[in-house]
Amino acid sequence: MSRRRATGIVLVTGLLGVGAAVVWRSGDSRAPTPAPGPTPVVQVQEALAATLPANARVPPRLSNPAAYLPAQCYAATQDEPGGRTHNGCFACHQTPRAPNFVDDAEVQTVLSVARSAEENRWTNVLQPLPPVELPEAELLAWVRSSNYVDERGGLRLAAALAHPPAAWDVNGNGQWEGYTPDCWFQPDTEGFDHSPDGRMTGWRAFAYAPFPGMFWPTNGSAGDVFIRLPDAFRRDREGRESTAVYRINLAILEAFIRRVDVPLPPTDERELGSDLDGDGVLGTATRVAFVWPPKPERPFGYVGQASALDRTREGWPAAGLYPRGTEFLHSLRYLDVDGEQVRMAARMKELRYMRKTRWLTYSDLQLAAEAEVREKMKHPDKLKTVLADAERGVGTGSGWLMQGFIEDASGELRPQNVEETTACIGCHGGVGATTDSTFSFARKLDAGSALHAGWYHWGQGGLKGIPEPRRADGQGEYAHWLEQVGGGDDYRSNDEVQARFFRSDGTLKPDAVKALTKDISVLLVPSPRRALLLNRATLALVKAQRFERGRDVLVGAPPKVKARLEQDGATGIDEAVLPGWVGPTKSASR
Ligand code: HEC
Ligand code: HEC
Repeated sequence: MSRRRATGIVLVTGLLGVGAAVVWRSGDSRAPTPAPGPTPVVQVQEALAATLPANARVPPRLSNPAAYLPAQCYAATQDEPGGRTHNGCFACHQTPRAPNFVDDAEVQTVLSVARSAEENRWTNVLQPLPPVELPEAELLAWVRSSNYVDERGGLRLAAALAHPPAAWDVNGNGQWEGYTPDCWFQPDTEGFDHSPDGRMTGWRAFAYAPFPGMFWPTNGSAGDVFIRLPDAFRRDREGRESTAVYRINLAILEAFIRRVDVPLPPTDERELGSDLDGDGVLGTATRVAFVWPPKPERPFGYVGQASALDRTREGWPAAGLYPRGTEFLHSLRYLDVDGEQVRMAARMKELRYMRKTRWLTYSDLQLAAEAEVREKMKHPDKLKTVLADAERGVGTGSGWLMQGFIEDASGELRPQNVEETTACIGCHGGVGATTDSTFSFARKLDAGSALHAGWYHWGQGGLKGIPEPRRADGQGEYAHWLEQVGGGDDYRSNDEVQARFFRSDGTLKPDAVKALTKDISVLLVPSPRRALLLNRATLALVKAQRFERGRDVLVGAPPKVKARLEQDGATGIDEAVLPGWVGPTKSASR
């Protein structure tokens, strides 16, 4: 198969009746290509489009039509022609593992970018805004005040969205039709979130090894993630709410996303009708066995009320796929400083949300990725068509709907606009690195060895003492990333990590690397000084409210980033870095 990259499902222009009038194809005013006959791909695309309301089927106008292409793609890969290469690209662009069929490893070497995306419109990264000056005490008081929970303990956004102001109620029907935040960020010792009256909200916090690069606290924000499965996964067969059933369903999901066995307390399989440990008999299981491909004779599936769901529509435990209706909630926070300690602050910069709206099978996803490769070969300058609804969010083309809230100029959270939300759909759905368009759950800390089996919120246990994740080839994942990038962030502006981890000749300091294997906080957590500076840099972005120009905070050395990419130019990187899951034997036989 061609190794040219594919993105997620892109709507073929002209296929959608409503969209046909608005040919949204940057830098190209020719008539739309005639639609091919309906293929399975087209059917999937049409079905995806049908899950959004009619107004979402008209492509929005964006100041940056390539908003789904993140600023990281413009990072300079060489300081001078022929010099050493800096490859942060492989973290996202890599050989995928099925059912991700977006093989974009080649992007590490060749800049196969549409002409209209050559110009770097992320000017906040090209020229970072100067950090806001204000006294430290004021700054700390600010980041410690919550913009999520109000003085009386209520949820601010939920209250505001119950009667949305006109600016948020884009379709003017008096109602908010997107996600209304309903997580209290009050996890118990197993990570289950509770409302103040003790009710379970279904959200469950988990700890994970943060994704390499801009998601590390030292590069801007502290983050947390909660997952929620639909109601039927939280009830027994009689329909009663059951934490026991929910725990097992989440363990099954974890096994099939992380592709490992997951330990369970002794569980009676007969009651559940599911051979959890895969030993061929219904007895007592002490683990969920990850068996893939599935054995036809294994009576196995999600348990409780979810066992009765229609598998073809709602999904089933398949490697690398979530059931339909799965939700994720992800907050990005300021950094709080207490003496020498740096941790997650109460104040949110953003609250991000995604929900799986459609179950797509391996073959649906493969067909879509292949169609996308063909499209890209035929029309290298065509950009992704964006399916957006200002209230409900933007579709990824891979079965998910993305939505987010971000601080307004006064620090209150507001819904993100269509362009801001469009930025979500590339990373979530368009690259080889994801697992069913997501990142963190596949990186959850191991249920066998981590604190509380990895089901906890960062407020209950920080990054300190978490061992470094390992690649299948045995290397430490973060040290390998630092080595490839030659810096502490994609743009090599993090001078603190530079000094902590690199010698003056650009090689890694062995002592620092050794400390990292046992404790990722030595890399991921910034000094108090840097943390305060990062907060100030964020405030500058918030004051300006020009997030369509970029929302990364860069402090330290001037970022090494290009104002322009040349279509099909070389990055200077000769050979694509293999993904972390490919072991040494496999790589030799490739
Ligand atoms: C944090 C993730 C991430 C990193 C790191 C990253 N990219 Fe990207 N890149 C993306 C996403 C997302 C897209 C848009 C994918 C899509 O079409 O949906 C993209 C698109 C591209 C494209 C356009 C390809 C196309 O078909 O539209 C090029 C070229 C590219 N990236 C090059 C690079 C290079 C070179 C680097 C390293 C200097 C890099 N990227 C680093 C996420 C990343
Ligand atoms: C540059 C790539 C990139 C962009 C753009 C991006 N995300 Fe993510 N997202 C990630 C990564 C990486 C993680 C994992 C976080 C971590 O490791 O700390 C993540 C995590 C998440 C999660 C938790 C589930 C998961 O995939 O781990 C949600 C929900 C989410 N993002 C929503 C959004 C929304 C909404 C937007 C747009 C406002 C967005 N993201 C934009 C890369 C991106």
